[in-house]
Amino acid sequence: MKDIKRLLLENKLWAEEKSKINNDYFKEMAKDQKPNFLWIGCSDSRVPPDEITGASPGEMFVARNVANLIIHTDLNLMSVVDYAIHSLKVNHVIICGHYGCGGVRAALGNQNFGMINKWIRNIKDIHQLHWEELSPLGPEERFDRLVELNVIEQAKNLTHTSIVQKAWKSGHDVKIHGWIYAMSNGLLNQLITIDQNYPIEDIYRFDL
Ligand code: CO
Repeated sequence: MKDIKRLLLENKLWAEEKSKINNDYFKEMAKDQKPNFLWIGCSDSRVPPDEITGASPGEMFVARNVANLIIHTDLNLMSVVDYAIHSLKVNHVIICGHYGCGGVRAALGNQNFGMINKWIRNIKDIHQLHWEELSPLGPEERFDRLVELNVIEQAKNLTHTSIVQKAWKSGHDVKIHGWIYAMSNGLLNQLITIDQNYPIEDIYRFDL
């Protein structure tokens, strides 16, 4: 049943199942949320954060966009990050990319995608930044490596925000994790972990 009705039916069954296991499940869930993780991932439908990590409702605050980018003028994402770090007090921010990412693939090509060009352009900049490493690679290797480098650069990008710098300054131990997901075997791999000892480049530092 591919119909939209299937989703509503599945939801009903899910809600019944949860209530059967614990009669107060939704009553307790409705009270508050205390997630310890912020997940910033790709919008790709094949990378569902809760399912691949076994996180339960209430454990993970989530933001997703095409190719998991941290763009400083993205008011939506910056609001999510600010709220997650300063109000919910999460201790871990996970930036997760995935091999085979359509956004990264688009960045490697020359097709005109209209308005999306502006979003994709950020990945092209990373390609240029790492040209020396990427240029000797064949097309598939280059694609995979750019997906990884994108995650690493986005993790660094997050340290350039006053949001993260303010948290570190106040002693809030927030760690930034760069992960990569392989759809070929369902496994996550860690690429980078950044904590408050990370040497932020001087130009990106705020006087706080
Ligand atoms: Co993607």
